[in-house]
Amino acid sequence: MAESHQILILPGDGIGREVVPAAVAVMEAAAKRVGLSLSFVEGLLGGCAIDATGQPLPEETLRLAKASRAVLLGAVGGPAWDSLPTSSRPERGLLGLRAGLGLFANLRPALLFPALADASSLKPELVAGLDLLIVRELTGGIYFGEPRGIEVVNNERRGFNTDVYSEHEIDRIARVAFELARKRQRRLCSVDKANVLEVTQLWREVVTSVGKEYPDVELSHLYVDNAGMQLVRAPKQFDVMVTGNLFGDILSDVAAMLTGSLGMLPSASLAASGQGLYEPVHGSAPDIAGQDKANPLATILSVSMLFRYSLDAPEAADLIERAVDQVLAEGYRTADIVGSGDPAAVREVGTRAMADQVLRLVETLETRS
Ligand code: IPM
Ligand code: MG
Repeated sequence: MAESHQILILPGDGIGREVVPAAVAVMEAAAKRVGLSLSFVEGLLGGCAIDATGQPLPEETLRLAKASRAVLLGAVGGPAWDSLPTSSRPERGLLGLRAGLGLFANLRPALLFPALADASSLKPELVAGLDLLIVRELTGGIYFGEPRGIEVVNNERRGFNTDVYSEHEIDRIARVAFELARKRQRRLCSVDKANVLEVTQLWREVVTSVGKEYPDVELSHLYVDNAGMQLVRAPKQFDVMVTGNLFGDILSDVAAMLTGSLGMLPSASLAASGQGLYEPVHGSAPDIAGQDKANPLATILSVSMLFRYSLDAPEAADLIERAVDQVLAEGYRTADIVGSGDPAAVREVGTRAMADQVLRLVETLETRS
């Protein structure tokens, strides 16, 4: 009997509770197809964890995460917890998990599926064939820098945060990005604000020096304001982009919109150990939660990344990606993407029916050797 990999399932809040079970069914089917043995444990994170334990990241969840090969997460947050102080909000749970597992490398692909080319807010010719990967540093920078807080100075409040990166943090994220670029179009664009911020001057220096070890990858640098502009002007010029935590947060949402559908985008967050956390880029969407309306494809594609990056099972990843591609080509659409494609061929479905279509293909498509 082959070893079994433990996967921690964290549905979280809102539509996470619908899209995660749908994606787990696909994960089980794909694992079976390629002869991988998986075991599942479930935990609490975010608002549901606050309700049950008072903590957004219960100790038990972190313990389970550390003992698992990979974590599949839905989404966290919702209006019920919006008035809590920053330090105890659902989002804290996610940040705590990133820090606790050392998930420093966040991979956010923005891939335009041919069947959805008209869903973008940009002209189809600007985005047709778009395949861009944002590599965001996830455990450093201004998100975690100290000192931080709100203090009273001269009778008024003053808020402050610290943007800080050490050389080793820049070095290791740069290496991840160069390695990924090597497997793609061999072009890497590093994004900073080196004309103003010292921390990103260091960023540029370190990325440049790591780049000397990757002469086969073409390295360029852009200031973040220009990068934002280029992303909406001519996004296909990019292959891989690497940047810090805050800029990566912003640019990855911009890139997501280029594809026209947040409901389609997966992400992976990787630790040096190969452990990973996989989650859709979209949030908990409380407005449609519990109505079988959410698009499960971002979570299903996150499962594909899980197979690729944490289980070293590219055949399973391919199977899922081809299944999604085909389901879209067959015209199946959840409400968020119903406006794209040939109207005569479009078949609107809910969360479960969409996942069932993917499942059907994952169970029957030929595997490629
Ligand atoms: C993201 C989100 C998170 C972030 C929030 C929910 C803390 O926007 O994953 O991009 O800012 O990192
Ligand atoms: Mg974000």
